[in-house]
Amino acid sequence: MQPRQLFLIDEQQTSFDDWTFNGASTRELTHVYHDYPARMIPQIAGKLLDLYGSKATTLFDPFCGSGTSLVEATVRGINAFGTDLNPLARLIAKAKTALPDIKQLEEQIALFDRQALEDQLHQLGELPVVYGIPNLEFWFKPQVVEKLWRIREWIKTIQDQAIQLFFQVAFSETVRESSNTRKDEFKLYRYPPERLKTHDPNVYGMMSSKLHRNLQGYKKYRAILANLKQTARVTICDFNTVEGIPTELIPENSVDIVITSPPYGDSGTTVAYGQFSRLSAAWLELEDPHKIDRKLLGSNPIQTKVEFSSRPLSEAIEQIYQKDHKRALQVISFYRDLRASTANVAKVIRKGGIAGYVVGNRKVRGVVLPTDQAVQTFFEECGFVHVTTYRRNIPNKRMPLKNSPTNVAGVLDHTMTGEYIVVMKRV
Ligand SMILES: C[S@@+](CC[C@H](N)C(=O)[O-])C[C@H]1O[C@@H](n2cnc3c(N)ncnc32)[C@H](O)[C@@H]1O
Repeated sequence: MQPRQLFLIDEQQTSFDDWTFNGASTRELTHVYHDYPARMIPQIAGKLLDLYGSKATTLFDPFCGSGTSLVEATVRGINAFGTDLNPLARLIAKAKTALPDIKQLEEQIALFDRQALEDQLHQLGELPVVYGIPNLEFWFKPQVVEKLWRIREWIKTIQDQAIQLFFQVAFSETVRESSNTRKDEFKLYRYPPERLKTHDPNVYGMMSSKLHRNLQGYKKYRAILANLKQTARVTICDFNTVEGIPTELIPENSVDIVITSPPYGDSGTTVAYGQFSRLSAAWLELEDPHKIDRKLLGSNPIQTKVEFSSRPLSEAIEQIYQKDHKRALQVISFYRDLRASTANVAKVIRKGGIAGYVVGNRKVRGVVLPTDQAVQTFFEECGFVHVTTYRRNIPNKRMPLKNSPTNVAGVLDHTMTGEYIVVMKRV
């Protein structure tokens, strides 16, 4: 989907500027490796860094997902920290910022191509059990299961960790693409019976084409890094910023810039990151992906109302409460978590440092939730001033512009009214 034109701007302190990046490729460098729900387009992170991080040496992304802002930091020589509760997101982010030796990588890809062509990949005993996917044959055809199994076991024999990661991300996409699931959705819906009859994916071919595509992206990434004075360090963790930030990892007042895109809402009614990741994560033997959606922002139900000092947020929540108490409490639980996370993130940003939050203002029960203003107030409560808010139309990323609020396939509603980039500065 191509980005559309900017919205008309009428709010005070909301900047006119072109953040649509119409026609720009969002899959350059290692950004090409793997799709991810609600992926930030790299140009946003890049432009924020160029505008506000020219002297930065450390970036932090508290919801790093597939690592877009981490990659953009490294191509500017900036050290990057990221955290995400989704193990598949962490694997992708690690792969995108890993630095395998190019020659060895090319040799390994050539070996894969040769052995796959001659059907010499790992020899099998019995067909596998994939923990986390009890009904394997519902999601994969038997011939697909066998080939995926062979590839996975072959990848396990790779000694070099960075090369192994490179193969794992290509494998993860191959799992998704060769599965019986519809590819136009991030949620898991099986192909209808008619479509299934003709579904006969070339699993080795898919894997190989991803390896070669990713290799091209990786070579361009390395060419940029080669021109930098020093290689940036990247650390990817799994802590939950709602609960706190381990100071031994990221000390208070140490981060120059935070660039992030938090979830748009709780995963039950917006993006089900765990569901998206389930098949790949299970094949890759990562932590049980089932559990992820119950841990993300807004997943802990709340029984009573909580007050927020952002008046537009409180008013919007009250309107929802009048229509639907349960939905309002879900919404409150999301903003309670976002506020707690913001307070913790604020502590690690140094004086004069910047927070750039890319947020979506979604609609619940017909009421627009002003997340941009909420984030602004959350940071103001922690000693930050508002620099500006850029408003842009929904970009080149797949997200629930139209969502299924009841989680029923085919029942859609417009849920997103715009995207905002809120820039705050610590004073
Ligand atoms: C909008 S996505 C980020 C996408 C990312 N900017 C990218 O370009 O790939 C939001 C991410 O927040 C993560 N997340 C949600 N709640 C979290 C929490 N409490 N702590 C850490 N990560 C969380 C989700 O797993 C998801 O990967």
